[in-house]
Order: sequence, then C-alpha cells, then structure tokens
Amino acid sequence: MRRASFADASPDAAAAAFNRIFTGYLRPMSFTPEQLELHVELNDIRTSRSPLWYDDGGNVIAAAMLGVRGARTWIGGFGVAPEYRGSGYAKQLLAHIVDEARSCGAAEMSLEVLSENAPAISLYKTAGFRTARTLRSFFRESPEAEMPPGYRYEDPDLFVDLPDEARPCWQREPQTIHHGAVTTAVAGPEGAYAVYRWNAQRAQLFKLRAHSGEQLDSLTRAVAADRSISGLLLVNEPAESPIAKYAAAGGWSEPFSQYEMRLTL
Ligand SMILES: CC(C)(COP(=O)(O)OP(=O)(O)OC[C@H]1O[C@@H](n2cnc3c(N)ncnc32)[C@H](O)[C@@H]1OP(=O)(O)O)[C@@H](O)C(=O)NCCC(=O)NCCS
Repeated sequence: MRRASFADASPDAAAAAFNRIFTGYLRPMSFTPEQLELHVELNDIRTSRSPLWYDDGGNVIAAAMLGVRGARTWIGGFGVAPEYRGSGYAKQLLAHIVDEARSCGAAEMSLEVLSENAPAISLYKTAGFRTARTLRSFFRESPEAEMPPGYRYEDPDLFVDLPDEARPCWQREPQTIHHGAVTTAVAGPEGAYAVYRWNAQRAQLFKLRAHSGEQLDSLTRAVAADRSISGLLLVNEPAESPIAKYAAAGGWSEPFSQYEMRLTL
C-alpha cells in the first residue's frame, strides 16, 4: 500500500479518487475536479492532512478529507473503494485521520453521516464518536416568482456574522460563507433574511432567519424572483431550529437526514 495525501494528487486524480470511494453510496455523490476544489476551499480542507491510499497497482484503496478550523476539525469525505470494503481499511483510515487532527493540536472532530448509513455509523461509534444531533435537509420546487412587499435584495455581508438561532453545520458556518460560498441575500420585515448561492438551477440557502412559516414562504418567493430556478435547497438544517419546523410544516420535501457526530480528541 502507498500512503499519499490529496496534496499530492492533481485535480483530476483527486476527483476520481473521491468519486471512487463513494461508489455505491446511498445518495449519488460525484464531484467534478472544479467542484472538489471548491469543497476544499470553502470548508478549510487541509489536503496535506487528507489521506489518499493506493494499492501497488496504483488503484485507490481509501481516502478521507480533513477540515481544520482552529482547534476544531471535520471529516469532509470518507470512504473505501468497493473492492477493499470489509477488510479493515476504514478502521485504519479513521485512526490515521484522528492522529492527523491531534497532531494539528485539535481538541475535537465532527462529521455528518446519513441516518441510514448503518456501516459508517457503526464504524464511527466504535471509534468513540457520539451522536450530537440530527440535521435535516429540505427541498421545495420554485414558488411563484414575486417580490413580496417590504422585501429587498441586500449585500450578504450584512448578515454573515449575525448570531444563529441554532449552531450551523460546518458547511454553513460563517467561515464557509466568508470564503465566498454565497452570492446574494434578500431581507424582509422584522429582521428576516435569506443568504444563498446559485447552484445549478437551484438556490442553495446558507443562512436564514424567519419568524413564521409565512415569512419563510415570502423569502423563498423573493429568492425565486431574483433568477429563474427549479427549486430551493436547504441542506443540514439543525432539527432544533425554527426554520426546520417551518419548512416541514410548509410541505418542503425532505430528501435525506444526517446525524452530526462528535469525538473529543
Ligand atoms: C462505511 C465504509 C467506510 C466502511 O469501510 P470498510 O473498509 O468496509 O470498514 P472496515 O472493514 O474497516 O470495518 C470497520 C467497521 O465498520 C463497520 N462496518 C463495516 N461494514 C459494515 C457493514 N456492512 N455493516 C455494518 N457495519 C459495518 C463495523 O463497525 C466495522 O467494525 P467490525 O468489523 O469490528 O464490526 C465503507 O462501506 C464505504 O466506503 N462506504 C461508502 C462511503 C461511505 O459511506 N462513507 C461514509 C460517509 S460518512
């Protein structure tokens, strides 16, 4: 086995490796080289501390990505190539990435795992991770495009550092947004706002505040009035947040949910 890291791989090789380890995953998971580079940049992935292991024939065995923010670390991708699963590689890989995090001086590690991914949940629990909370993901088709009275477009920078009602997941933290994740914001009455990015034909919501289901609905109509979209996406919303309750009550579909798991290092 050859132990390298993502820092040694070209963008094409990195994306091919990432897609390889997610073969047969519960949800389609495929990155272009550009999408993977964006993932690395937005989420503070340290490629030199992100293991990429090959067999003697140069085929990928296993790989993982480590995000680092001060004393906090995050696993932003983890997997074993299909032909090597069930042979103990995931255990070795997890031990390795935990060592990498410790050697950065980190105090904790977190990750998200699909709630139905029983093999991965079992792996993480065995390594000492505990389930911290549930993150829900929502989608709704584009509503009627209409700028409701009292709503306006704003500079997203006005909102990025405002306190959140529920602690955001890693991929929606202010650090991610400051790295350029979002493009636009809309604001409404009583401090309601939505900060989002265009992602293919959809608007992906990163940070938002609403005081009722009606306000959430008005925000989505204002977003739809900005540009023609097929729908709005809200990924990894903490289950305890008011927004999750409004989205669920408002009939948004819920394509998947995840557990946020944590390990004290
Ligand atoms: C989840 C995954 C990483 C496990 O890799 P692996 O190399 O097969 O795992 P290992 O052989 O090292 O097994 C480690 C532990 O994982 C768990 N595990 C692995 N396969 C399992 C299965 N089919 N059912 C239940 N638990 C399983 C067990 O806890 C196992 O420990 P044990 O052997 O002492 O019971 C692998 O299936 C994979 O890459 N899946 C696709 C990508 C993915 O889901 N990544 C996780 C994203 S959060």
